Amino acid sequence: MPLIQVLLASTRTARFGERPAAWVVDRLGRREDLDVELVDLRDHPLPFYDLVKPPAHAGREYPDEATAAWAGTIDRADGYVIVTPEYNHGYPAALKNALDHLSIELKRKPIAYVGYGGTGAARAVSQLRGVAAEQDMAAIRSSVAILPELMVPALRAEAFDVEMLAPLDGRLDTLATDLVWWADALKVAREA
Ligand SMILES: Cc1cc2nc3c(=O)[nH]c(=O)nc-3n(C[C@H](O)[C@H](O)[C@H](O)COP(=O)(O)O)c2cc1C
Repeated sequence: MPLIQVLLASTRTARFGERPAAWVVDRLGRREDLDVELVDLRDHPLPFYDLVKPPAHAGREYPDEATAAWAGTIDRADGYVIVTPEYNHGYPAALKNALDHLSIELKRKPIAYVGYGGTGAARAVSQLRGVAAEQDMAAIRSSVAILPELMVPALRAEAFDVEMLAPLDGRLDTLATDLVWWADALKVAREA
C-alpha cells in the first residue's frame, strides 16, 4: 500500500491548520488502500535556504542533520496531501522554504492539495501546482477547498471535532482515490 503523508503547512502558534489536517488524517486513515502519516512542518525547523549545492544536484547528500531529517522523512512517502492556508494570495513561506530543500525525494510522485481560507486557498494551491511541475511531480486534478462557511465554525469551535468538516468527505474521498491511483502507478514505474 502506498504511504501518503499529510503535510501541515502552517507553523503559526495559533494556527487553524491542524484542524483540517486532523480531518484529512482521520479520513485517509479509514481507507484500506493507503497508509497515512502526518508531517508537521513545525517538527522540521530549517534555516532559510542556504545550501551550497542545489538539491537537484546533491542527490541524497545532506550537509546537516536538520536537512537530512526533513528530506529523509519526505523520502519515505509515495504521495502527499498538502494542507495549506493562503497568506497574501500565496502559500506560506515556511512551506516554500521546506520544499526548496527537496528534489529527488519528491520526484515522480503524486501530490494533492487541501486549502482553507477565503477562497479555499485557491491561489496558494494554484501556485503550488507550478512548484509540483518544477519538482517533476504529478499534481492531482481533484483538490478540496475549505471555504468560510465550514472554516469559520471550525475555527471558532472550542472543541473541534473532525465531523465539522464531514460535508467535504466526498471531495476528499475523490482526491484520495485519484492520489492512490497515481501513487500506485508511479511507484511501479519508479521501481522499474
Ligand atoms: C499573513 C497572513 C496573510 C493572509 N492572507 C490571506 C489571503 O491572502 N487569503 C485568504 O483567504 N486568507 C488570508 N489570511 C487569513 C487566513 O486564511 C487565516 O488566518 C488562516 O487561519 C491562516 O491559516 P493558519 O491559521 O493555519 O496559519 C491571511 C492570514 C495571515 C496570517
